[in-house]
Amino acid sequence: MNKKTFLELLIKTIQVSMLLAFMFFLGCSSERKPHQAQAKKTDVIVQKELQSMMDVSSVTEKTRQVYRRYCAQCHGVKGHGDGINAPYLVVPPRDHTKSDYLETRSDQQLFDAIKLGGLAVGRAPCMPAWEHTFESETIRSLVNYIRELCNCKAL
Ligand code: HEC
Repeated sequence: MNKKTFLELLIKTIQVSMLLAFMFFLGCSSERKPHQAQAKKTDVIVQKELQSMMDVSSVTEKTRQVYRRYCAQCHGVKGHGDGINAPYLVVPPRDHTKSDYLETRSDQQLFDAIKLGGLAVGRAPCMPAWEHTFESETIRSLVNYIRELCNCKAL
């Protein structure tokens, strides 16, 4: 192979690989956009549904009673995390009045923590699961009650 043909071959190879890279780039971007748009759309729908579910499960006297009866021994009557059981737990119960932490958790995350227990959401197992004790609606109203205690919303 002489020098000239080698150079021509080299240039061709570079041209082809640039073309391939360009096609790959186009292919990716034109394929991804509709998916991303779709994902956003469903996210919004799910969020809206969640929002309306949260609204209907408003805090009633029953919610406060449930909290006092089932949650207060660890979380405290006023939710400060100072219940009668609190000193005996390895991990301290959450202070439900602490807005700077609770703002970082979505309503869904709080709902899951109450329904499925601490372990299911990457928290301590000494937070029990309540799915066999309460209806989803009661759990949603508990989430709203906690939002009342912290006087905060998910950011
Ligand atoms: C046996 C004690 C105990 C009882 C009873 C209890 N909890 Fe907890 N709870 C905990 C502990 C401990 C944590 C902290 C877990 C952690 O930070 O890893 C916690 C955390 C939480 C969290 C925060 C989860 C998060 O994202 O960090 C919520 C919400 C919660 N509890 C709600 C409730 C509600 C509502 C009830 C009553 C239905 C209840 N808990 C009853 C011990 C308890």
